Amino acid sequence: MIHLSVNLAGRSYPLFLAENLLSDSLLFKKTLKNRPFLIVSNQNLTEYAAVLVKTLEASSQDCLFLPDGERYKNIESLNVILEHLTERHFPRHGVLIALGGGVIGDTVGFAAAIYQRGIAFVQVPTTLLAMVDSSIGGKTAVNLGVAKNNIGAFHQPDAVIMDLALLKTLPGREYHAGLAEVLKHALIQDVDFFDWLMIHRTDIAKRQPEIILEMIQRSSLIKARIVELDEKEIGPRMLLNFGHTFGHAIEAYSGYHDFKHGEAVALGMLCALKWQGQNAIALQLKTLYQAWSLPTAIPAAYEPQRLFELMQHDKKKSTSAIRLILLAQIGQAFIHEESDFAKLKQFWSI
Ligand SMILES: NC(=O)c1ccc[n+]([C@@H]2O[C@H](COP(=O)([O-])OP(=O)(O)OC[C@H]3O[C@@H](n4cnc5c(N)ncnc54)[C@H](O)[C@@H]3O)[C@@H](O)[C@H]2O)c1
Ligand SMILES: [Zn+2]
Repeated sequence: MIHLSVNLAGRSYPLFLAENLLSDSLLFKKTLKNRPFLIVSNQNLTEYAAVLVKTLEASSQDCLFLPDGERYKNIESLNVILEHLTERHFPRHGVLIALGGGVIGDTVGFAAAIYQRGIAFVQVPTTLLAMVDSSIGGKTAVNLGVAKNNIGAFHQPDAVIMDLALLKTLPGREYHAGLAEVLKHALIQDVDFFDWLMIHRTDIAKRQPEIILEMIQRSSLIKARIVELDEKEIGPRMLLNFGHTFGHAIEAYSGYHDFKHGEAVALGMLCALKWQGQNAIALQLKTLYQAWSLPTAIPAAYEPQRLFELMQHDKKKSTSAIRLILLAQIGQAFIHEESDFAKLKQFWSI
């Protein structure tokens, strides 16, 4: 088992990575320390929840299932968790276990942040995106209508337990979308990791277990180190938004229908590179996208003017400039305030 950590003084926590951790009763015992717990998952993951129930010698009473999907990452789901906890007099020293992708992790984490002014929670991510990105760093939130992640809190988990065997059942598109965030970590911080991704791109696409383990380890370490530098995203943590300002506009264009988040980020990274004229890097990315079934073009029907308007709605903008994360070179990102709105209105062919 690989044991990493996020070092945040009093809020430090371990990240565990290996196959079959869902059945590792010793690990869960050590993590839960005899505290009462509630497993919160979604209706698509009941089989995995059943495995965890067995591991914890618990019962179905110790599980709560929310409906599956981003549209349920909302106040209603949050309320379901909070009412469930309240009705059962769930104690302040209890622990919530978030078993699922980023939607479950973000929602359950936020419930943990506010129930009785904050209780402990453990992340058990089940998607690639959740393993390398959303389960690490303590950003928790739900959406308010179309305003994504508009209500939330910083609340670090007690531990992150990544069972890599769970990735075997992850649908292809979800896996590939997660790869876009892995690639983002390499591009902003680690050129050696980027080269490694290029070399192993076919094995990565095939989900070869040893390769996946190394990939997740390297990717989650990059995220952990950035979070340690800037827990509340006032500085370097913003670099994790590489590809996201363009990507959010692409994602929102179809009302989140055409592209998954990671797919839109993949296109957003190509946009950022095109914006800078970094054509050689963009070409390398396209090679990876082909290997990983990620999109390489924005649909021709998408109107630049509308994309620009959506980009302006991005919460990372100030009034006179749009904040872009750009690359000086592979492995080195920087923050740039862009005020050439006329150019941004025309742009968008990659
Ligand atoms: N907190 C953060 O720092 C942060 C960072 C990035 C993204 N996010 C959030 O994460 C969310 C996206 O997360 P996601 O991509 O994990 O999506 P998701 O949680 O919706 O999961 C995607 C789909 O895969 C299914 N699934 C999950 N694990 C599975 C498995 N092992 N086998 C088969 N199916 C499985 C889910 O039921 C769901 O249908 C977004 O809401 C985004 O805002 C948060
Ligand atoms: Zn993202």
